[in-house]
Amino acid sequence: MREHWASRIGLILAMAGNAVGLGNFLRFPTQAAQNGGGVFMIPYMLSLALIAIPLMWVEWAIGRYGGVRGHGTTPAIFKLLWKHPTAKYLGVLGLFVPFVVVCYYIYIESWTLGYAIMAILGGLPTAADLGQLGTPDYLAPFENLLKSYTGMNGTGIYNPSLMAYSMFIITVVLNIFILIKGISGGIEKLAKVAMPLLFVFAIILMIRVLTLKTPQGSALDGLNFLWTPKWDQLSNPKIWLAAAGQVFFTLSLGFGAIITYASYLGKNDDLVLSGLSASSLNEFAEVVLGASIAIPAAAAFFGVVAAQDIASSGAFNLAFVSLPAIFANIPFGNIFGFLWFTLLFFAGLTSSVAITQPVIAFLEDEFQLSRKKSVLFTMGVLFCIAHIPVFLASALDEMDFWAGTFCVIVFALIEVMIFFWAFDPQKAWEEINRGGIIQAPKIFYPIMRFITPVFLFVITFWWVIDILP
Ligand code: PHE
Repeated sequence: MREHWASRIGLILAMAGNAVGLGNFLRFPTQAAQNGGGVFMIPYMLSLALIAIPLMWVEWAIGRYGGVRGHGTTPAIFKLLWKHPTAKYLGVLGLFVPFVVVCYYIYIESWTLGYAIMAILGGLPTAADLGQLGTPDYLAPFENLLKSYTGMNGTGIYNPSLMAYSMFIITVVLNIFILIKGISGGIEKLAKVAMPLLFVFAIILMIRVLTLKTPQGSALDGLNFLWTPKWDQLSNPKIWLAAAGQVFFTLSLGFGAIITYASYLGKNDDLVLSGLSASSLNEFAEVVLGASIAIPAAAAFFGVVAAQDIASSGAFNLAFVSLPAIFANIPFGNIFGFLWFTLLFFAGLTSSVAITQPVIAFLEDEFQLSRKKSVLFTMGVLFCIAHIPVFLASALDEMDFWAGTFCVIVFALIEVMIFFWAFDPQKAWEEINRGGIIQAPKIFYPIMRFITPVFLFVITFWWVIDILP
């Protein structure tokens, strides 16, 4: 007997927890800044409508279809949908991708825990340690802290601090603890506590940030930068690729993670409305909350041009250097810093359990291992492999590019082709709508069958041309 979600609200929060992650608060502002702000949001919205929402329903439906038949991961589900000898091998991507991603994701998640603890216990630099605002020295104490915390020393081999390594172990243990309690007893319970808190923290931070104003600028300059469309730059393919990549990452699409969560649905459980609700929560956390914290805060303190530079220099600078340095300069800054890092930690934790679950489900469903054995085995291997990004400087970017960006798009193309071409388009459409509190608008049928695959194919092709010398 496979497990089930205990309640619809729990399922929606768990799915939202799956999707809302470091991607919303760190990757999104960085990507938007690197890709011109207002130009980025146009392909972002289009990708959302034409590939993300359709794929989200496809993944929920594939997952429920498999789960009802006792399988929660793609090697077995693809085989059920497509009687072809290669189907199950293509499905292996749905295990490989999330596993590679969680091996670096969990490490960054552990930094946020470490920083949350430092923020509340007073381990972060304070206003007195920082240089004159506007001078390069201003951020130096936070830059140095991040360097000593992670052990970045320019040699390519990291030498993490004792604190960083301990937090990494604690984070792994916490993930084990939740996963061992299972779907409704662990993941769902976590989501019911962590997600509401996450939203409350983010809203408090957003309100505080949006009222920031200094002689250098105001938070609204940052919002203007993000939300003023610049139509003339739309012909740049790089922006389209980045936007599609971000939409995938933030909604956890093409990772197998949504499929596995959806495999714990009942045969006639609603999926159209639940999927839409979870995705809307994610988009709220991304384009409303994620867009209104890090960049506007930097714009208020350093001016909008500098804010773009900081964001473009990477997500880590934004999250672990510039934002806490800003908080150090405002009243109750340590509280805001604590809220910020705790929010990131909750976002990370509810996502890392989701990216780990596919491999666990695979061991349970296909090898009939007990949950405890599956979790311990999976997390044991994960713990070992996660040492690569802990110590090797370039590993994280490589892993993020190949597994987190490239394979994801290829895998999404494969799943939509299997469901809407190899399986049976009519039955696929029925699968999506069965049990629905609402039905998916009919226009999505031709979108799923034609537009989404073509869009994905073009993007994959672009990537390939782009990366070949
Ligand atoms: N969507 C998560 C984020 O925005 C990342 C993630 C990807 C989680 C894949 C689960 C599966 O950070």
